Amino acid sequence: MIKPWLWLSPKMAHDLGPIGLNIWSPFLSQKNLTWRPRNWRGLHFRNPLGPAGGVDKTGDSLLAWHRFGSGFLELGTVTPLPQPPNPGLIMDRDLKTLSVWNKMGFPGPGADQIVQKLESLKEIPRPLFINIGKNRTTSNKDAAKDYVACFKKLHRFADAFVMNISSPNTSGLRELGSQNFLENLLSEIAQAQLSAKTRIPILLKLSPDMSDLETSDILDRSLASNIDGWILTNTTLAREEGSHFQKEGGVSGAPLSKSSKLKLQQAVKHLGARKQDRLLISVGGVMTPEDVRERIEMGADLVQVYSALIFQGPLFFRAVAKYFDKLGPKN
Ligand code: FNR
Repeated sequence: MIKPWLWLSPKMAHDLGPIGLNIWSPFLSQKNLTWRPRNWRGLHFRNPLGPAGGVDKTGDSLLAWHRFGSGFLELGTVTPLPQPPNPGLIMDRDLKTLSVWNKMGFPGPGADQIVQKLESLKEIPRPLFINIGKNRTTSNKDAAKDYVACFKKLHRFADAFVMNISSPNTSGLRELGSQNFLENLLSEIAQAQLSAKTRIPILLKLSPDMSDLETSDILDRSLASNIDGWILTNTTLAREEGSHFQKEGGVSGAPLSKSSKLKLQQAVKHLGARKQDRLLISVGGVMTPEDVRERIEMGADLVQVYSALIFQGPLFFRAVAKYFDKLGPKN
């Protein structure tokens, strides 16, 4: 299949993507997009595969992704105030190793603009997760205020929130998972839930670069703070031998597969029965329909993709639906 977006620079393909998706998607058949449907906390997922955080940062293409066949949506990462991308090169890809590199740093129009965008949409496909973060100028000491501000502005649109504390592209962000910050962050969000008289599920997005000990520790502490689920994982600071990507920034795609799977395996084992009905979402190096099946068999409730959409295009959702259709309902 011809993939014209691969003729463009990664950044240009990224910027033009929403236009292409919005023109293309209305012509797609809406048949056979339900496979392995599931319900969770009153939400219905027609299938367990969705676009990962960062695929639709501003909600420009939510309906288009739905029409392509995703089972749920994620918008963001949204920050309270508008901010530009990090300076310099912010995105690259390697066709040989099927890897993507980015150093975007949550560029976006800010939460108020996102509210306006969501209000202007005739139809919001669901379930819709909203991924929230802090502005790069906000100190970690004040970070909870940023997450709470996003929560307050956006909760009436969200079916769940993803708290992004794992991007490598906002200086110090990953420290928000430490004991100094996480408990406070989660209790501030719980407080905001009480004031808003809502109990929207809160998911924590984790880094693949933590040690096993750090991973178990953050799972235990977030569990004790009543978290509703985890997304494993964000991009990695690790580099494969021979990688031409610079050392700053996060790598995703095929080279992330191994550590993403290890984190999923560890979470399933470490949580055991304590997981109860909490959600485990696997993301990182899911490049083929077989990979989606593997993550589900490993214990993921839902699966997300970003890099596969860059290399395979948006029809990836349909390829996966077809694959599961061939397997039959029991497999
Ligand atoms: C991302 N990712 C990301 N994650 C997030 O929580 N918020 C974000 O804004 C972004 N932005 C972003 C931009 C780009 C260009 C990439 C490639 C990735 C991380 C993404 O959601 C996912 O966790 C990783 O990309 C791993 O999945 P894949 O790409 O290996 O399927």
